[in-house]
Amino acid sequence: MRLIDVLVHKKCLTSPPIWMMRQAGRYLPEYKQVRKNYDDFIQFCFSVDDVVKITLQPVQRFPLDAAIIFSDILVIPHVLGQRVWFEPDHGPKLEKVDFSKLLSNAGQVSLEQALAPVADAISKTRALLDPTKALIGFAGAPWTLLTYMISNGKTADFNTVLDFAATNPELFAQLQELLEEKVAELLCLHISAGANVVQIFESWAMAVSKASRETYLYEPLRRIVASVRVKYPNTPIIYYARGVSADYAKLQDLDIAFGVDETADIVDLRAHLPNAVLQGNLSPHKLLSGDFEEDLERILSGMNGTPHVFNLGHGINKDTPVAHVERMIEVVQNYRE
Ligand code: CP3
Repeated sequence: MRLIDVLVHKKCLTSPPIWMMRQAGRYLPEYKQVRKNYDDFIQFCFSVDDVVKITLQPVQRFPLDAAIIFSDILVIPHVLGQRVWFEPDHGPKLEKVDFSKLLSNAGQVSLEQALAPVADAISKTRALLDPTKALIGFAGAPWTLLTYMISNGKTADFNTVLDFAATNPELFAQLQELLEEKVAELLCLHISAGANVVQIFESWAMAVSKASRETYLYEPLRRIVASVRVKYPNTPIIYYARGVSADYAKLQDLDIAFGVDETADIVDLRAHLPNAVLQGNLSPHKLLSGDFEEDLERILSGMNGTPHVFNLGHGINKDTPVAHVERMIEVVQNYRE
């Protein structure tokens, strides 16, 4: 697997392995075809045969190096008892809950049982996937999950979650601890079912002040990585945190790969992190517009000779023309020095 060659063996491939965040999704007509059979997105995420089908769609259409299991970071709050639903064009909504109650009921929740369909879909996908392609599992990191849980959905300003953390530090710390445990458990469940790689999404890292990053972001990350490594020391872990890539140098001892968002200059970051595996970072907006050849060339030539996984800086936009994706992959795969 080319992705494993880079993530584990730190190979420097002139034409880097490529996959895209949100590669299974609404920019694909075949995705929309299946999606319209479900009103409830979470129920869709638990429908084994369709999850397998959707996960495989992008690798059947494009010569990508990996599939990422079709699921969502919000399945964790959902199975912990905070109902999650999606309203078209409003993003995720999460039920208002009493967090003390959620904490005291958490002991009765078995992820293994509640997420058996996800594990089943991973095993079935792995069996059908070309053996040269990697299967990626994932989870949201505790801070990002808490932004959704405490704000009851997507939030524009993060004041609600920051106020909550400041006013209820003990409760917040307990929730953080619970999520650390569940995130590690979920990643292990994905690996045990057949995922070859796992990615941790810290999508809202940039909302945390510098002074609080250790407490809210990096200490939980360290504990999650340590806990996954006890069981699966050889499975590579990718950490994708938006807006804080300047801190990655401090996390190098963890021996994880780093996902870089499009606001950072990945070539510049490479100079500060000569040995780390870096993943990214073409702007999804550039891919959408079609004006991306120059950026692509700069990323490929700048990262050449270093361990690099090609990806977008964030999830692919739902209006992206399929032809732009084809062109991007063609350029990446035909890249020569
Ligand atoms: O990458 C993949 O192809 C794998 C599947 C995947 C989904 N969500 C499917 C999905 C992954 C890895 C995620 C991660 C995820 N989910 C994140 C972290 C990555 C990021 O974007 O920063 C976050 C923050 C979420 C929460 C979430 N789920 C959001 C913000 C949305 C979009 C809401 C909207 O209406 O645009 C979702 C829904 C979702 N998850 C969709 C998909 C394909 C679209 C839902 C649909 O088809 O109606």
